[in-house]
Amino acid sequence: MMSTATPSLPFVVCTPAEAAREIATEMLDLVASRARAGRSAVFGLATGRSPLEIYAELVQRVRTTRFALDNVWTFNLDEYLGLPARHPQSFAHYMRERVFGPLGIHRERGILPASDLAPSQVAAHCRAYERAIAEVGGLDLQILGIGRNGHIGFNEPGSTRECRTREVMLDETTRADAAANFGGLERVPTRAITMGVATILEARRIRVLAFGASKSAIVRRTLEDAVGPDVPATYLREHSDVRLYVDAAALGGLSRSGANR
Ligand code: GLP
Repeated sequence: MMSTATPSLPFVVCTPAEAAREIATEMLDLVASRARAGRSAVFGLATGRSPLEIYAELVQRVRTTRFALDNVWTFNLDEYLGLPARHPQSFAHYMRERVFGPLGIHRERGILPASDLAPSQVAAHCRAYERAIAEVGGLDLQILGIGRNGHIGFNEPGSTRECRTREVMLDETTRADAAANFGGLERVPTRAITMGVATILEARRIRVLAFGASKSAIVRRTLEDAVGPDVPATYLREHSDVRLYVDAAALGGLSRSGANR
């Protein structure tokens, strides 16, 4: 008989700074344990506001301790299509400024989908992206934000559980949320490349961040709606090592009883 039980998503209620400290510690522990096994840690990274404190925490620890992060592999979730590689709103620019530069991660080890591909190059690029992740042993830990429409990466509503790295059309909510950064909705790209839902769920650990009242409606749907394409973040509930970090504002009126501590 098929189980009708809805899988739940463990969550922790904390401040962004507390989440950053905990996740940065977990990442540095992974770097150390992978190094003992003679290999590099592989991280899946996100852009946007949610992970900024994690990156700042990592930069501070690398500056003030003997930790080094220059031998990790990182793969970003997504990138806009149709932007020059050096565009200030490209995710490549965000990563160079906030992560790769300050952490000393070499450009060959800090990998993003390309933003300036011709249409004929996109499919092969996406296949190569999947291959590159597999070749270094798969993602040890994926950091994720949640879009207000429930997207993870740029897997917009309608994305299936099986989808992999591919070109997508951006949802109007997603473009509207990016409009201020681009100085107007008409300047926001309409297309992007994103890791797929299946790609994300193959990460061995997933740590998800949602802070602030603007996320409370989608946090509720992520925790309570049926798992499926209407809210792609609900797929995270099928992962065996996932944790959502929320603050009280993002949790809204929900009970804290799902918190795993
Ligand atoms: C963006 C990105 C996602 C990000 C999400 C949430 O559009 N494609 O990777 O996680 O939306 O962004 P934020 O953290 O700024 O709320």
